Amino acid sequence: MNPVFEKLMKCYKCVREKTDFVPDVAIVLGSGLGEYAKQIDVVFELPYSEVEEFPVSTVPGHAGKFIFGYVEGVPVVCMKGRVHYYEGYPITDVVLPARLMKLIGAKILFLTNAAGGVNTSFHAGDLMLIRDHIACFAPNPLIGPNIDELGVRFPDMSRVYDRELQEIIRDTAKEQRVYLQEGVYAQLTGPSFESPADIRMMRVLGADAVGMSTVVEAIAANHMGMRICGVSCISNLAAGMTENPLTHEEVQEAADMAAPNFTSLVTESVKKMGQLVK
Ligand code: HPA
Repeated sequence: MNPVFEKLMKCYKCVREKTDFVPDVAIVLGSGLGEYAKQIDVVFELPYSEVEEFPVSTVPGHAGKFIFGYVEGVPVVCMKGRVHYYEGYPITDVVLPARLMKLIGAKILFLTNAAGGVNTSFHAGDLMLIRDHIACFAPNPLIGPNIDELGVRFPDMSRVYDRELQEIIRDTAKEQRVYLQEGVYAQLTGPSFESPADIRMMRVLGADAVGMSTVVEAIAANHMGMRICGVSCISNLAAGMTENPLTHEEVQEAADMAAPNFTSLVTESVKKMGQLVK
């Protein structure tokens, strides 16, 4: 058997030995956004370290677990903490959790992250609906023999971010009076932040925000036919756009600032998404 698939199935069996919970929506909480987990009516928590062979994050503040439970009555699995490519894991490990959540039943993947704002009209603390992404600066997680059990060799990528889910998030933002930017998210590998010249390049290429996650997960989930949506928390303006050097600490500060808006946006959107997949 393909070793990537074999590992995935091992993790799947391990999760199923611990819980038979079937989520409709999978939520990935980005850097600084882990506090959202408090909104979940928890049924079961599963630290990543208890899933055999599961990649465990080494970043402070990312110590991870799956949280199974309900958001407004919608069954969800939530990842508090994710692994990043820059930690040194093979890219197939980075996307293993997204694949696993599809296998346990999630039909919708709600990706969130902290990102640097590239668009000059963005401010730290803004939320951005991801309309599309730039993938070509990170390794493609589908490289290697295709896993036919998961999807096709050459998946279409013209509508990765589900239009109906985007509309739900847009409508919810309006109802909740949450100001919502929209744009294209580009994944770079990190872990160093970008240079000002990198950021000028990203702007020319059409990126509105940059970060170190999300796109590879979206590629793997799209391969498996999940419906995907994403929201970035703009934690800082990207390199060269202000006089300040970038620090990991400001990511947390901006996330804290955005937390009330983020919370109401995600909760109300998930409630509506739950109706979609019923
Ligand atoms: N660049 C890359 N990743 C990030 C940034 C940034 O400026 N901010 C938060 N994640």
